[in-house]
Amino acid sequence: MEVPASISAADLERKLGPLDRETYTAQSCERFADTIAEVRALKRERRAVILAHNYQRPEIFEVADFIGDSFELASRAREVKDAEVIVFCGVHFMAETAKVFNPDRKVLIPDLRAGCSLAESVTAEALAERREELLPLYPDLKIVSYVNCTADVKALSDACCTSSNAAKIVNAIDSEHILFVPDQNLANYVQTQTAKQIISWDGNCYVHHQITPEEINKVKSGIPGLVVLAHPECRKDVLALADAVLSTSAMMRYAKESPADKFLIVTECGLSDRLMLEVPEKHFYKACKLCRYMKMITLDGTLDSLKHLRYEIELPEEVRAGAKRALERMLELGA
Ligand code: 13P
Ligand code: SF4
Repeated sequence: MEVPASISAADLERKLGPLDRETYTAQSCERFADTIAEVRALKRERRAVILAHNYQRPEIFEVADFIGDSFELASRAREVKDAEVIVFCGVHFMAETAKVFNPDRKVLIPDLRAGCSLAESVTAEALAERREELLPLYPDLKIVSYVNCTADVKALSDACCTSSNAAKIVNAIDSEHILFVPDQNLANYVQTQTAKQIISWDGNCYVHHQITPEEINKVKSGIPGLVVLAHPECRKDVLALADAVLSTSAMMRYAKESPADKFLIVTECGLSDRLMLEVPEKHFYKACKLCRYMKMITLDGTLDSLKHLRYEIELPEEVRAGAKRALERMLELGA
């Protein structure tokens, strides 16, 4: 069943206000340089580390101690050793994962409105209800949750997965019937990589779900030799046009290692910004799609987060422990 985008960009604009869209001029960069120096100094004073997702703004990359995809960020959060504070420049579910692995540290997110349309599409109550409906039909049913969900949904899951290991986790788990939540597109993609039966939830990422095959074909037809890299949150008719289907960090590695020099990056545009910064000798064409949630995080907001030690992520202990079990299972099955 094809579902419309979970929320339209226009509705989100109404909900979150106008996007703080930066134009990078010499003046704005000078202003950033001052704030970057302030953030770095305060980070030392607070004994803080900043973890940032690949979709963040370029000025956030400048203050981050680590930049990565969801899997790398979860793994890195698990290994934090001497910091007292973790500032998470990404979306809420990612910061929750950092808290899951760091119950005794302060985990902060600079803006609590940084949600995710996928995480909002499934609640623990709805998932428990669906599991009860399906269990009489499939007694061996297991739940695999894409990490783009809340900690209480993770706590109900048998294992988590990310875009970099979803098929591996599904194939490794001891069941032939998998209730896969919440991304319908990733579920469809995983179904092409497994003989198991995937029962999917009907959530989607409003950013990737709005990308159409027509847009891809239009760019492809004008640029010979273009290599198309797509994120598995895209619709299947878009994935059918891709040369490779990859997580955001896997796209980084592919673009660096490939002999090709022209790429269409079919995902949120922050990743193209990172590619342009780190691989300046190659050409990157963007999908021109921004995640409003990811872009709620600004450099000024990050500075305020460190100054006022806000906004703190808190999780009830039973939810934290349940989510930790499902995340650890992912790390074990994916190893
Ligand atoms: P990655 O784990 O591939 O970075 O994806 C996270 C995400 O939110 C994609 O929209
Ligand atoms: Fe969620 Fe999509 Fe934004 Fe990723 S890009 S955080 S999946 S809304």
